Amino acid sequence: MQIVFASAAAPAGPVARVVGQDSLPADLAPVMAEAARAARFTGKTGQLVEAFVANGEAVSCQVLVGSGKDAEGRSGALERAGAALAAKYGCSGAKALTIDFTGSSLSAADVAAVLLGARLRSWRHDAYRTKLPDEQKRTLETITVVGAPDGAEAAWQVEAALAEGLDLTRELVAEPANIIYPETFVERVTARLEGSGVTVEVLDEKAMKALGMGALLGVAQGSARPPRLLVMRWNGGGDAQPTAFVGKGVTFDTGGISLKPPAGMEDMKWDMGGAGAVAGTMLALARRKAKANVVGVCGLVENMPDGNAQRPGDVVTTMDGQTVEVINTDAEGRLVLCDAITWVQEKIKPARIVDLATLTGAMIISLGHEHGGLFSNDDALADGLVAAGKASGDKLWRFPLSPAYDKLIDSPIADMKNVGPREGGSITAAQFIQRFVKKGMPWAHLDIAGMVWASKPGATWDKGATGFGVRVLDRFVRDTLES
Ligand code: BES
Ligand code: MN
Ligand code: ZN
Repeated sequence: MQIVFASAAAPAGPVARVVGQDSLPADLAPVMAEAARAARFTGKTGQLVEAFVANGEAVSCQVLVGSGKDAEGRSGALERAGAALAAKYGCSGAKALTIDFTGSSLSAADVAAVLLGARLRSWRHDAYRTKLPDEQKRTLETITVVGAPDGAEAAWQVEAALAEGLDLTRELVAEPANIIYPETFVERVTARLEGSGVTVEVLDEKAMKALGMGALLGVAQGSARPPRLLVMRWNGGGDAQPTAFVGKGVTFDTGGISLKPPAGMEDMKWDMGGAGAVAGTMLALARRKAKANVVGVCGLVENMPDGNAQRPGDVVTTMDGQTVEVINTDAEGRLVLCDAITWVQEKIKPARIVDLATLTGAMIISLGHEHGGLFSNDDALADGLVAAGKASGDKLWRFPLSPAYDKLIDSPIADMKNVGPREGGSITAAQFIQRFVKKGMPWAHLDIAGMVWASKPGATWDKGATGFGVRVLDRFVRDTLES
């Protein structure tokens, strides 16, 4: 779907206006005004009413969509107005939709938010649907924007870059594990980054062996699919030390020898959501030419049980020399992240590290599907991320770290074990990662297990892949690194 700015409405298709709470325009056609009254339309966020208005021989579909009062304190309500239009008209048969901002008091940034909502809500993964009934097929091809204030198109270009990154993340997350595995993840991302200005480096199994990444390789050894470490660099910020984003990219998580139960195991195709968010963020940053230096690292493995798989009780040596007793092969994400985080510290020496991972089921028990969990050794970094979460809609909630939790992963045979007790499972997972963060390195860990996949449609996503993570990272870069 494309978005174009024009001076006149598209010749066909509905024409929509965005209306705040209790602020119906005075110039409504009588039919529209009556339709709004009859539907009790008040301009509540996402509320929508349409009427067919006769104009001589012709009949046009006019639409009002509500943007409420924006109680969220950000452009979320405007995004939801745009999303409501996309949800309603995406498969309606209409190929064109016009949004008319003439006479509206919305700013350029507000208009961009409406369009972003429409654009994000339009995304759906139809690659494998060969028998979609006509009424479920996407028909909407173009949104024409008229009457927008000066600067709206430029503001939209920035959000369009974000949307492009989100598309990539959602696609990677939605693809099944027979299509996206470490090698194809790298191929897909590399192809999409082509020409963007992001440089790509890929470490294969041999390179990782040479570096001593025993923890990551231990997870990978039960799979026929070889692992990869994908490194993406965006240098838009002069000679500033880069910020590193590191993603868990387990392209499928069976649990390994500590095999998961079958019910719901198909969900583990999206156990690469952290890596997907990192890749999508790199694309978004490059497309909008962010004035910042960022390195994205994805630790890509498949966690499978087979004759060569690692066993519970195995001891592995990590890249930084610490040893880990693998009590549970299903606690594999931290084993992947620890080596990826060591690599980025030794090779890149970043100013700060943010890792993202679908790390623990316990996080979903704690926070449900409303917030990602945040863990950090640095208050300024944590505060920046919480603020970016609020501003972007990818909300985060901070959890504690402390030596008492850390002690719970001491091992009798090695430096640490890869699981603690059931209680506080998300925290001990974070403590594990923290053991690989070098002294003085500001670090934050986002456990996004509850956020990357939605079982029902949300504000700006259909059910399925949400793209969680891209927006908070992009916002963090905008507000903390670029200003
Ligand atoms: N990828 C899972 C966590 C997960 C579960 C994400 C459900 C999304 C939905 C992770 O690798 C895992 O299996 N964690 C274990 C850890 C446990 C063995 C300590 C878990 O949460 O059960
Ligand atoms: Mn697991
Ligand atoms: Zn996992």
